[in-house]
Amino acid sequence: MPRCTIRVVVLTLIGTVCTVLLVYPARLQQLSSSAGYRSSSVSPLKILADSQQKNKECICEPLKKENLPPLYIIMPTYPRAEQIPELTRFTQTLMHVPNIFLIVSEDSKKPTKAVESYLVESGIPHTYLRVEMPSKYNKMKKKPRGVANRLAGMDWIRQNARTGVFYFADDDNTYDIRIFEEIRTTKKVSVFPVGLVAERAVSTPVVKDGKVTGFYDGWVANRKFPLDMAGFAVNVEFFLKQPNATMPYKPGYEEDGFLLSLGVTPDDLEPKAFNCTKIWVWHTQTKKNGPLKGLSIMDSSNDTNLSILRHVI
Ligand code: UGA
Ligand code: MN
Repeated sequence: MPRCTIRVVVLTLIGTVCTVLLVYPARLQQLSSSAGYRSSSVSPLKILADSQQKNKECICEPLKKENLPPLYIIMPTYPRAEQIPELTRFTQTLMHVPNIFLIVSEDSKKPTKAVESYLVESGIPHTYLRVEMPSKYNKMKKKPRGVANRLAGMDWIRQNARTGVFYFADDDNTYDIRIFEEIRTTKKVSVFPVGLVAERAVSTPVVKDGKVTGFYDGWVANRKFPLDMAGFAVNVEFFLKQPNATMPYKPGYEEDGFLLSLGVTPDDLEPKAFNCTKIWVWHTQTKKNGPLKGLSIMDSSNDTNLSILRHVI
């Protein structure tokens, strides 16, 4: 065998041995930590604390594409039994969308641990804001849900965003990923149909020859823009030029109030989703359940997985 071939073989062997010695134990360590409690010598709570601190193992790599305007999604949410399942559905949808930034705006005083860890694990670029609904509205029978949160999201946009498009996404709706690509090219305000799981079936702009000529909605109620919150998106540069744009604490009139404050006319509205012929977002609602009580301490003895699960729900 020629001498240079022997050298190549020897170098390759050394390389392989080094890789096995260095990389394999690290991978093994990673796998065993992601497997949760396994070794009886380490307390499950310590494992949980370590994994929450490291938070290295993301459940996704966010998609990146050059030269795409960023999409900012303002998602109001609030603590309740359905919150993490809703967040799971929503973030996993967003994982298919490139150049996305999620603004989670929670109606609560303090952070919800499970939301915080889920967001980090999701790998989706995000910020996590907290703002409470002012108590005078919270006492009302019909509450302006998600308004304080959206206002906080808009403040964040004013301070941090310069280009791109933003969209208000309720945490319990159902989104077809095509809607996100549609709204990316919004110049001022884009509009599109929202499927309703109700008698009227849809809330949509009426479009003729590529222009918005009216609105179809089960509840018009004197609104100039009878649109669903999920039925429009706004260009960031345009928004930044409207310092008075805001959302009123007025149940049922939040969308109309916001669009009026933007100073748009029906002529400015850009119909998307093939001239509003596709339904790519649905206003769904999840059945309300009682409050989460969690696992009792009695159920979760210290040396089983229950002691970990008690902390992640
Ligand atoms: C509909 C609209 O889609 C909302 O955008 C609008 O704010 C609401 O009506 C209204 O006018 O009251 P709906 O499905 O009936 O929404 O309401 P929810 O989904 O319960 O709430 C809207 C958003 O606010 C959700 O993202 C929810 O997580 C959040 N929310 C709800 C809070 O932040 N705090 C609450 O106390 C309740
Ligand atoms: Mn909803």
